Amino acid sequence: MIDFCGIALEHPVINASGTFDAIAARRAFGDAILERFPFSAFVSKTVTLEPREGNPPPRLWEQGAGLVNSIGLPNKGLRGYLEHDLPELAELPVPLIVNVMGSTREEVATLVAAFAERDVVAALELNLSCPNVKTGLDFGVDPAATEGLIAHVRPLTDKPLIVKLTPNATDSAAVAEAARDGGADAVSLINTLRAMALDPATGTPWLGGRTGGLSGPAIRAVALAQVSAVASMVRIPIVGMGGVASGNHALDLLRAGATLVAVGTESFRDPLAGSRIASELSTTIKSVEAAV
Ligand SMILES: Cc1cc2nc3c(=O)[nH]c(=O)nc-3n(C[C@H](O)[C@H](O)[C@H](O)COP(=O)(O)O)c2cc1C
Repeated sequence: MIDFCGIALEHPVINASGTFDAIAARRAFGDAILERFPFSAFVSKTVTLEPREGNPPPRLWEQGAGLVNSIGLPNKGLRGYLEHDLPELAELPVPLIVNVMGSTREEVATLVAAFAERDVVAALELNLSCPNVKTGLDFGVDPAATEGLIAHVRPLTDKPLIVKLTPNATDSAAVAEAARDGGADAVSLINTLRAMALDPATGTPWLGGRTGGLSGPAIRAVALAQVSAVASMVRIPIVGMGGVASGNHALDLLRAGATLVAVGTESFRDPLAGSRIASELSTTIKSVEAAV
């Protein structure tokens, strides 16, 4: 068992927000998915205060070493999530972490306060890859804005607050320190890297949102460097992610300082990737320990 901010988890592999739809998976695979749930905790996709339609299509560009997505965080909004998704997610056999995002402190505060009252929610993840309406910059690129935001919402809940950092900041470790100083219990990283793809026929942007976020194997080395930099600056737990597709990749992030590892893009290729990676990781750790 692993203790993550006071939550007992069976193994260190969870999903990355927005890359595994537990409700759709249960519809497709039936209750068998609950018996063999691939992750030790479930992280929901980002919930915003108001419903969002997401970006116009096309929303994905696949390339040799990864995926560029401009999904645009479509979701039912807070009310729709509480009414429709939360009751279904409450039936999962693992702790639930709800990921939220807002473009003002007040919006994030409303989301945090709403989930603070729900016993089924084990922890909250705050997605900082959202433009702050006051500055136009993503909250997560600005240490002062990050600290102010976390300090504002911290008193609203006793649940663990995980702050999801953006890799598009100049200095992720400085933002992690600011999140800790604001009262974060943990940080998670990395989110996708800003990226673009052109339509080969026209030379114009392929994605409906023009730019998107790069994920998958292409960002694994970036994730490792950023997790290592953050781990050397803050002592709070880290959820490491970015291109994890095997137990060895997960072990690299743990060795760089992560407490948990999240699997994202790999779950699109193999919906049971989480279980496979957790089992590979456990075998590798046992063989490393036996060799010592
Ligand atoms: C299709 C897609 C949707 C995503 N949706 C979200 C989201 O709703 N909220 C969020 O915080 N991150 C989201 N992410 C980012 C992932 O959680 C993760 O940080 C990133 O993809 C890096 O991990 P990976 O390389 O294993 O995919 C999304 C990523 C992808 C590929």
